[in-house]
Amino acid sequence: MCEHAGVGATIVSVTTARDPRLADSAFLKAARGETPQHTPVWFMRQAGRALPEYHKVREGVAMLDACMDADLITEITLQPVRRYGVDAAIFFSDIVLPLKPLGLDLEIKPGVGPVFANPVRTLADVEAIPDLTPEHVPFITQAVQNLVAELGGTPLIGFAGAPFTVASYLVEGGPSKEYAKTKALMFGAPDVWDALMRKIAGISATFLEVQVNAGASAIQLFDSWAGAVTPSDYATYVRPYSSAVLARAGELGVPRIHFGVNSAMLLDQMGEAGADVVGVDWRTPLEYGIDKIGPERAVQGNLDPTLVFAPTGVMLQRAGDVIEAGKRAKGHIFNLGHGVIPSTNPDQLKKLAEFVQGYPV
Ligand code: CP3
Repeated sequence: MCEHAGVGATIVSVTTARDPRLADSAFLKAARGETPQHTPVWFMRQAGRALPEYHKVREGVAMLDACMDADLITEITLQPVRRYGVDAAIFFSDIVLPLKPLGLDLEIKPGVGPVFANPVRTLADVEAIPDLTPEHVPFITQAVQNLVAELGGTPLIGFAGAPFTVASYLVEGGPSKEYAKTKALMFGAPDVWDALMRKIAGISATFLEVQVNAGASAIQLFDSWAGAVTPSDYATYVRPYSSAVLARAGELGVPRIHFGVNSAMLLDQMGEAGADVVGVDWRTPLEYGIDKIGPERAVQGNLDPTLVFAPTGVMLQRAGDVIEAGKRAKGHIFNLGHGVIPSTNPDQLKKLAEFVQGYPV
């Protein structure tokens, strides 16, 4: 296992030389608001259950064990790049992964999601969670190094969970519909909430630093469940902590994507929190999203993920509408408006990727 020379708990400069072919990356150009040769495309959750080759390598291996094995991470991350020829890879892991090597009793249950045996509800619970250091996650550094060597001119997106979304799993103990316990803590015990959100912000920022220092070319901060709060509560209880993560990521000099679901009312703030690209979920008309995000930032999205179940012609026509709408933005990265649904036929995604890349800019 490699030594992390120079990669301490504090920020150091990027240690891995980037592949010179990345200068031509359509994904990176669009993320920076430059004009790419074609509209770049990748799919949230492109690695995983829609792919038969994923099921094959995951046979008998628990999700979190797969996420802590550098060879499996590398293989699973590369699978959708090989199959779809997408313009970016996304690191195979999970938003809750860093909490496992920190010693929390965590499981990712198939068909359910992350489950914590001991939910976090008090200041003592928060204080018992250690801070993350690169030494906790050597398999991440190793996997990213393997990946950037294999990917060459295709950029690797590193990611982390935003504090609110990770907090929702920690406080509820698992997935939730109403986030009642999470919001009870937020409204009722602001000091505990502040401590918890600071703790997670530090963990997520370090998780991103490890990935970028090992060679990732961009990052995405997933605040999938941020749409559960009003804009004013977002400003008070959520945004400052996401901003802290994005500020630390900003020091690494890579483009930052910020995404949430049901986020129409929050898109302006999600940009102002410190993103270069704001992800728009599929329920929000892209034109509306672009107006709300403004001319300073690029956008990512936002085809309804169920359109892959429509006839190919219908899916592609709707993809064309998304590309046309995206032309008004500072930059546009094509994506689904949330993750790939596990029952998706990969042949449809392949046709979708080819269509987007061949569409006149
Ligand atoms: O291809 C990729 O996008 C990279 C991999 C990735 C996973 N999780 C793998 C995974 C990423 C980026 C995530 C992020 C993640 N994890 C989010 C944010 C993205 C989003 O969808 O909004 C969230 C909310 C989680 C928490 C989580 N982990 C959920 C809700 C689930 C699904 C539960 C289920 O089984 O339906 C997981 C498990 C998970 N994460 C799987 C994968 C491939 C499925 C586990 C398996 O294959 O057994």
